[in-house]
Amino acid sequence: MTALAPRVTPEQVAHYDRPGPRYTSYPTAVEFNDGFRPADYLARLALADARAGEPLSVYTHIPFCVERCLFCACHVIASPLGTRVTGPYLAHLFREIELVAAALPHRRNVVQYQWGGGTPTYLSVSEIHALLDDFERFFTFEPGAEIAIEVDPRVTTAEQLRALRDRGFNRISLGVQDLDAQVQEAIGRVQPVPVTTAAVREARRLGFRGINIDLIYGLPHQTLESFAATLDSVIALEPDRLAIYSFAFVPWLKGNQKKLEADILPDRDTKIGLILEARERLLAAGYRAIGMDHFAKPDDELSAALDTGRLRRNFMGYTVQDTPDMIGFGVSAIGLVQGAYVQNHKKLSGYYAAVEAGGPPVERGYAMSADDRLRADVIQALMCTFAVDRAAIERRHQVDFASYFAPELERVTALAAEGLADLGPDGIRVTPLGELFVRNLAMCFDRYLPATQQGARPRFSRTI
Ligand SMILES: C[S@@+](CC[C@H](N)C(=O)[O-])C[C@H]1O[C@@H](n2cnc3c(N)ncnc32)[C@H](O)[C@@H]1O
Ligand code: SF4
Repeated sequence: MTALAPRVTPEQVAHYDRPGPRYTSYPTAVEFNDGFRPADYLARLALADARAGEPLSVYTHIPFCVERCLFCACHVIASPLGTRVTGPYLAHLFREIELVAAALPHRRNVVQYQWGGGTPTYLSVSEIHALLDDFERFFTFEPGAEIAIEVDPRVTTAEQLRALRDRGFNRISLGVQDLDAQVQEAIGRVQPVPVTTAAVREARRLGFRGINIDLIYGLPHQTLESFAATLDSVIALEPDRLAIYSFAFVPWLKGNQKKLEADILPDRDTKIGLILEARERLLAAGYRAIGMDHFAKPDDELSAALDTGRLRRNFMGYTVQDTPDMIGFGVSAIGLVQGAYVQNHKKLSGYYAAVEAGGPPVERGYAMSADDRLRADVIQALMCTFAVDRAAIERRHQVDFASYFAPELERVTALAAEGLADLGPDGIRVTPLGELFVRNLAMCFDRYLPATQQGARPRFSRTI
């Protein structure tokens, strides 16, 4: 049973607010490097192919958006509709799919398929069909596969939703961020409430499941009152899930964020108040808290995954992951194949050139060591289940937990003394207070963090 919002003091908030990863991967993308070459990716694909018949996850990145929202930290190419950017992109994407499929002749069954962005519904209905036709020439969806898409309700039509549903898409996530007019104005994303309502209703009518709404807390002009109103309106739409992301304010990495007026951002105490407000309202409305920033109805499969230990965290946030191998297609896409993270070129020109040269368009990557896998497992456990089962970790990784992690457990002990966790012979259990600061607990196990924190500029957004 999820506890209601814990009490938290301004001193605690100040104490734990520091730059830190969101751990959608461990090691984080900061460790990816260009020593990992396209040939290394092909070698990993060959290993994956040797696991003949095992299912795959596939992610496809559609980078285009009509306009760039001022808060956005995603890999986006802003281009007004009608500028003919999609034709060349799809042509290169097709070639990438073809060449990766050639390296996977025995591994073509897909249980999880996701289009993310950018805005995948930037594609027209005929482009949606064309991309799926091409993908399905090589890969086959398993019965019951989870086929998901992220959409921006402002540019998504009923025809597109119908086409997606007809072609097997069954999960959908809608970007909303905040419903308050003043906030929307300040973030450069005006999205009238009826637009959101119509998209949710249409998705439900068409039979999409796991309907998710993304909100962000910590945006300009947000107050406890305004966010409470947004939450009430969103709850009235009865989404199956919500992601309530902490605003990642990283203007040194994302130039568009420089246009946000930093002095109208809520202060640290207000920001934590916003997530506490959200938590209280959502739990009272019958949602369950899932990991760090998701909420789901008790009958949603994210809730079931939490109960059965199948909840995972990856680049898409919290998911019910069925396979250890995830192929990423498209510019800047990230995959994880046989223990190696693989990222495609982030610039369109580099992506196009690499595809035209006939190799996989890999720009950088990272082959995990046994130590990375162990730490990734511990961090996953903290981020997904708020607990680390010592015996399970020892069994899976053949280590003595207490001696392997002696320095890390000293750091956890200090946080436990402050009330963030209970540390016992069975492992670690995060307290309701610690759930708010779980990134700080995960950071105890990150062996790369001290080095990445030494530069003049922080590499990560703040933990609050
Ligand atoms: C690719 S976008 C979603 C799809 C679509 N482009 C849209 O905006 O409606 C994925 C989500 O990332 C989240 N996001 C983007 N920039 C963020 C930031 N700086 N901090 C926190 N969340 C962010 C937003 O909630 C957004 O809905
Ligand atoms: S939030 Fe969505 S619509 Fe806005 S720029 Fe980012 S990806 Fe595009």
